[in-house]
Amino acid sequence: MSTTDIVYLPEDPAHDPAIEEINAEAFGPGRYTRAAYRIREGGPHDAALSFVAVTAAGEVVGSVRMTHVSAGAGSALLLGPLAVRPQFKNVGIGRRLVKLAIEAAAAAGPGAVLLVGDAPYYGPLGFARLPPGQIVMPGPVDPHRMLGLELAEGALAKLAGPLVHRDMAA
Ligand SMILES: CC(C)(COP(=O)(O)OP(=O)(O)OC[C@H]1O[C@@H](n2cnc3c(N)ncnc32)[C@H](O)[C@@H]1OP(=O)(O)O)[C@@H](O)C(=O)NCCC(=O)NCCS
Repeated sequence: MSTTDIVYLPEDPAHDPAIEEINAEAFGPGRYTRAAYRIREGGPHDAALSFVAVTAAGEVVGSVRMTHVSAGAGSALLLGPLAVRPQFKNVGIGRRLVKLAIEAAAAAGPGAVLLVGDAPYYGPLGFARLPPGQIVMPGPVDPHRMLGLELAEGALAKLAGPLVHRDMAA
């Protein structure tokens, strides 16, 4: 498979069943108990900032979603879930999806992107560990996996305390 056969599109409701399958395959039933999932339960993700990777035959093989969140005086986008179908891994689809999501976030304005994930994967894409305790997740998270990317100066420093879906913010 060549990456030139893959197109990247903003997410559309028609992609929902395939995205659900990809996430079930990647994360299993345990995904519903993850701290990031609990935040995403607070409201919808932003489909305009979320992307899918689609084959020439129209099969959705990768997905990244972005959700508006806030913590204290700060706001950000929470990146995830990110998943790529096993047969399509390691050809750059995941990285491309993350880059598209970051570009869309930069245009959308919140000034920072957060995620819970592996620093060795996301570090080269610009993410760095947040100071432990700066952000409080609604469930256990390894502090080494709490990562952030600043798009506007000072945006990360404004984030403090419990991280919630923007719709849940006081
Ligand atoms: C993680 C995931 C999205 C990467 O997608 P992908 O399209 O295969 O990624 P890319 O092709 O852009 O990058 C592949 C590279 O990242 C590396 N990589 C993949 N997962 C990694 C991880 N968790 N930590 C460090 N490196 C990782 C691969 O070894 C490969 O390295 P190479 O380029 O040196 O060969 C995909 O493996 C997946 O769906 N995993 C299951 C779900 C998951 O863990 N999602 C992330 C949650 S934070």
